[in-house]
Amino acid sequence: MSPLRLLFVASEVAPLAKTGGLADVVAALGAQLSEFGHDVRVLMPLYRRVRESGVELTAVESCQAIPVQLGPRQGQVSVFASTIKETGLEVWLVDCPELYDRDGIYTQDDDEHLRFAVLARAALSVCQHTSWSPDIVHAHDWHAGLLPLYVKQLASWDDLFKRTKTLLTIHNIGYQGIIEASKINDLGLDDAAHMLHQEDLADGRINFLKTGVMYADAVTTVSETYAREVLSDEHGMGLQTALRERGDAVHGIVNGIDDQEWSPELDRYIPQHYSKKTVADKVINRVALLESLGLKPAPHGPVFGIVSRLAWQKGFELLPGPLADMLGSHDVRLAVLGSGEEKYEKAFTELQQRFPGKVCFYNGYSNKLAHLIEAGSDVFLMPSRYEPCGLNQMYSLAYGTIPVVRRTGGLADTVQLFDRGSGKGTGVVFDHFDEEALRRALVYVLELWSDRAAWKQLMSNAMSQDFSWTKQARLYETLYARLCGCGGAAGANGASDGSSDGTSEAEEEACT
Ligand code: ADP
Ligand code: GLC
Repeated sequence: MSPLRLLFVASEVAPLAKTGGLADVVAALGAQLSEFGHDVRVLMPLYRRVRESGVELTAVESCQAIPVQLGPRQGQVSVFASTIKETGLEVWLVDCPELYDRDGIYTQDDDEHLRFAVLARAALSVCQHTSWSPDIVHAHDWHAGLLPLYVKQLASWDDLFKRTKTLLTIHNIGYQGIIEASKINDLGLDDAAHMLHQEDLADGRINFLKTGVMYADAVTTVSETYAREVLSDEHGMGLQTALRERGDAVHGIVNGIDDQEWSPELDRYIPQHYSKKTVADKVINRVALLESLGLKPAPHGPVFGIVSRLAWQKGFELLPGPLADMLGSHDVRLAVLGSGEEKYEKAFTELQQRFPGKVCFYNGYSNKLAHLIEAGSDVFLMPSRYEPCGLNQMYSLAYGTIPVVRRTGGLADTVQLFDRGSGKGTGVVFDHFDEEALRRALVYVLELWSDRAAWKQLMSNAMSQDFSWTKQARLYETLYARLCGCGGAAGANGASDGSSDGTSEAEEEACT
């Protein structure tokens, strides 16, 4: 297939700025598509932390002091390029100190909407100033949610975007970018304001993500199960109607993992490399993990690990009861890395105080420790209430660290319940979001642990899984090609699903 010009717009790109899986996915998918030969540009804000991190930034000559007009506000942005050394992916960073020279990646500031409206608006200007006509504008999450509308409306006069198609990927529907309607002038929509969701406007709000759902040529979310779930009242978080209205334009593509960054054979952060063949060496990482966290050796039971944002989505309220029972009655250890909502931080702090030497809660962010937990734990806990995809369960599988997950979203698509009879399956999966179901799952884990042959089989099954982006990025490629009318008969879900993604027959012909 001929190379496409792909513009990614996102709020996070690893390792430059990361709070969760979005950053990993944008960086790894972008790098993979580049490797396939596409011309990929990734655009994100130049946050203070990136500027201060010491990464090399090179001014993009044609993109300095570009005026950006949003309603009555007139600002300026400049663009700097930085190359991610591990993959060679070039990221373009939008500099606008007034908006991005702040402490966090995200803020609670009153102009948060402006920070990302400017990013989306700048995306168009950057194309114009470099005379670069994107085949696909790929908007990630609410931060880029206005882009499909901007491309359709604000740039409709410009031939540069005549053939451009837009794709919105919803990584997490729990964050939609909802603002008061009174801020409408900040969005620079001018006479396109009537294209916003009119009932929302009448109710006094504007929803960035919903706007993206309405105007993107196609919408994806990050697993097949989640793509079905978000159509339901239970999981749609208010967007289910807008999504249902898009019919076959909504697809699910399961995330991949960066198998250079997250590989027990190559990991830069762990003391001992290992593979499926040398899995016995994993124990060296386990010892290192326990030692580094000041935990006692655990000769008889498994080490449980958690690495997560501590957010409602992740379902941690299920854990304290069953974990306390298990910690009280078994020789197990628990290593938790995370930060977020106070009530979860408090619950893990209490567990640590109650079980000194058995539980360590590292309250914060540490990429190095995240890798060591993946490599050194025996079991990884993800009891998510909902999970669009989830990366940590896939990292765990690669490291032979058995995931315990709730059957929801991407967790359902990537972990299969281990069956002792057939020896098939890769983890422990429970259905109901209640303590009892989790308790039973933990009992099953301990049973499997004490059956060494079963555990060996389970680890081997886990480590045999292939979640590489080489495979998953092809599904995006097929979808892009369909949107551009350049062939690719199968939809992202592998099914031929009509042409309601906005590709006309004339366009199909023009491209062939
Ligand atoms: P989400 O994007 O919802 O947070 P994912 O499982 O998709 O969940 O991705 C989470 C990513 O963030 C993983 O790469 C994980 O290792 C990383 N991560 C989460 N919390 C921390 C933390 N406290 N320290 C280091 N890495 C973290
Ligand atoms: C989101 C989701 C997570 C997903 C990640 C990357 O933050 O919560 O499930 O893996 O984005 O797509």
